[in-house]
Amino acid sequence: MTQYVIEGGKPLNGTVTISGAKNAAVAILPATLLINGTCRIENVPDISDVRLLLEILDSMGAEIRRLSPNTIEICSRNVRESEASDALVRRIRASYYLIGAQLGRFGHAKVALPGGCNFGPRPIDQHIKGFEAIGAEIELQNGYVCARVGEAGLTGGRVNLDVVSVGATMNILIGATLANGTTIIENAAKEPHIVDMANFLNAMGAKISGAGTDVIKVRGVKSLRGGSYSIIPDQIEAGTYMAAVAAAGGNVLVQNVIPKHMDTISAKLREMGAKVTEYDDAIRVQRTGVLRRANVKTLPYPGFPTDMQPQIAVCMALASGVSTIRESIYDTRFAYCAELNRMGAAIKVETKTATITGVDQLHGCTVHACDLRAGAAMVIAGLAADGTTVIEEAEYIERGYESLIDKLRGIGATIKRIELRRGARKNAAG
Ligand code: EPU
Repeated sequence: MTQYVIEGGKPLNGTVTISGAKNAAVAILPATLLINGTCRIENVPDISDVRLLLEILDSMGAEIRRLSPNTIEICSRNVRESEASDALVRRIRASYYLIGAQLGRFGHAKVALPGGCNFGPRPIDQHIKGFEAIGAEIELQNGYVCARVGEAGLTGGRVNLDVVSVGATMNILIGATLANGTTIIENAAKEPHIVDMANFLNAMGAKISGAGTDVIKVRGVKSLRGGSYSIIPDQIEAGTYMAAVAAAGGNVLVQNVIPKHMDTISAKLREMGAKVTEYDDAIRVQRTGVLRRANVKTLPYPGFPTDMQPQIAVCMALASGVSTIRESIYDTRFAYCAELNRMGAAIKVETKTATITGVDQLHGCTVHACDLRAGAAMVIAGLAADGTTVIEEAEYIERGYESLIDKLRGIGATIKRIELRRGARKNAAG
């Protein structure tokens, strides 16, 4: 088990650089299976979810070279049709992208049903609906998704998603890229990583238009070629540092961001009393006074992201007045509130709503990271709290945050990482 130990109560000051987007990288890497050539992918975050996906692709026969910590060259020409290792696949939710990628490449796929952070049921019915709409036949057998193309091959088709799903939108994009016909995805997700995926595939020769709107058109092409691509900065990593400054106080330049992607988060922090200044590819966050209460409802992009919900809750826990958070993407994403309450927060959770009465101070104690973003919230709380905070199961955090300890130290935090024993089993996340 990995522990983080934080001596809190100090403002954060300096500059922090944001890494490439996790949820773009974990989709783009499986999509390289479609490509008949070598891809050079830059700005790949060096996080454990990415390392796990690279291990899966390597086990399937992809040739992978790490040219630098964040640049990877990957050639899938010799990938065998073998199934990806179940043990690895079940550890990461994004392994569902192997279904679209294998279907597009080989015309069939067999992938173990993915795990994932436990936010209640996380079905993949919309992925399946999409694959069927573009000409695949899908069966669920003993915990596997088995997909194969019908007689006519992957024909393309029209799919209207019943819920706005990031994963389904990406997976259908991947599956439809090499189809014989055209695919229209209606009610598509609009997150920045959807646009990044479309840009990546287009850079390799795909014909995708409309990404970033709720109707995406994919005109199938015969093959994709290799090329270079640089992944966008991580919206949620940037938002996490912004929330950390708002909660702990200080003045930090968050650089290598796309400010437009941060609009909802910047607006909420401003509403709460932080000073947020945008530059071309950076955002400065300053907080000196007391934070004000606010309300948040999580929504698909461009709404307030569910993946920032636990982090903004820490700011609300320290704001004057009563704030509320309404979670509308997942059934349950408030397990971390009990941990914040142990640190002195006053949060009441009723089904999908958290009511947060601000307190003057949080106090360090031992808490655990329930999942990736909950873990990030514990770090923020520990930075803002007085005394020592020990975060258990911090390995969750390392699935999505590159060099968190070094980056936080760089802006003045006192934080260390302790590995308690080797070989601890890691649970699924993402
Ligand atoms: N949903 C369905 N059926 C489906 C797919 C989704 O009902 O077939 C529902 C889900 O249960 C959920 C909602 O639709 O209520 C949205 O789910 P979505 O498919 O958008 O989520 P995801 O693709 O499984 C990705 C990110 C999550 C992030 C969500 C929402 C990855 C690997 N994961 O999950 O990231 O919370 O989109 O933005 O991209 C994280 O990074 O911490 C994380 C959990």
